[in-house]
Amino acid sequence: MVFIRVNDMYLCLEGIDGSGKSTQLAMLGEWLEKCGLEVLRVYEPTESPPGQLIREMLTDPRATTPHFQRILGLLFAADRMMLMDRIGEAEKQEKIVISDRSFYSSLAYQSDPDWILEINRHIKKPDLVILLDVDVEQAINRFEGKDHFENPEFLGKVRKNYLKLAQNHNFSVVNANHSVRKVHEDIKTILSSRIRI
Ligand code: TYD
Repeated sequence: MVFIRVNDMYLCLEGIDGSGKSTQLAMLGEWLEKCGLEVLRVYEPTESPPGQLIREMLTDPRATTPHFQRILGLLFAADRMMLMDRIGEAEKQEKIVISDRSFYSSLAYQSDPDWILEINRHIKKPDLVILLDVDVEQAINRFEGKDHFENPEFLGKVRKNYLKLAQNHNFSVVNANHSVRKVHEDIKTILSSRIRI
């Protein structure tokens, strides 16, 4: 097992809508701070101008069509690029960066992986990705359903994409059908085995 240096670590939680990433990121951040680490929390999409445009476009009924997906892919890449300086700065200050989503979300949600990789060429890749894997039915009970990505058929495809990515890119996978507390414990176990806390 290769240990990752904590003081330049960029850790990301991934998963479909309703997988519990936001709750888990909050709990993880608190735990890391209790362990004495300095933490930068980041969220994609951000509040930047491209991020705001993304949120608006996600409410359009055409959101899952090929052209909209391409436009969204570009906007997500632009939004993410605006985070890179903050992440670089945090790493210089020896903070651990924890992120709700990363460019792997674009690989899972948008089509055309080669092109997604190309437009994200200058994006820093996370050192460790933890996939919160949840059944689509369970996920649907957890969200409000205002975005057009939040439909069972689309999310079923995204979940499959994530499971393939997990195999190909060596993600750690947590069963997120379990209780919030159990998922948090599982995430801590993974981290404790990869970094020295
Ligand atoms: P989400 O994490 O749900 O943000 P919030 O909780 O602030 O609403 O992300 C919004 C949607 O964007 C979600 O359906 C996933 C999708 N998404 C992509 O399709 N591609 C991406 O690259 C990213 C970062 C998110």
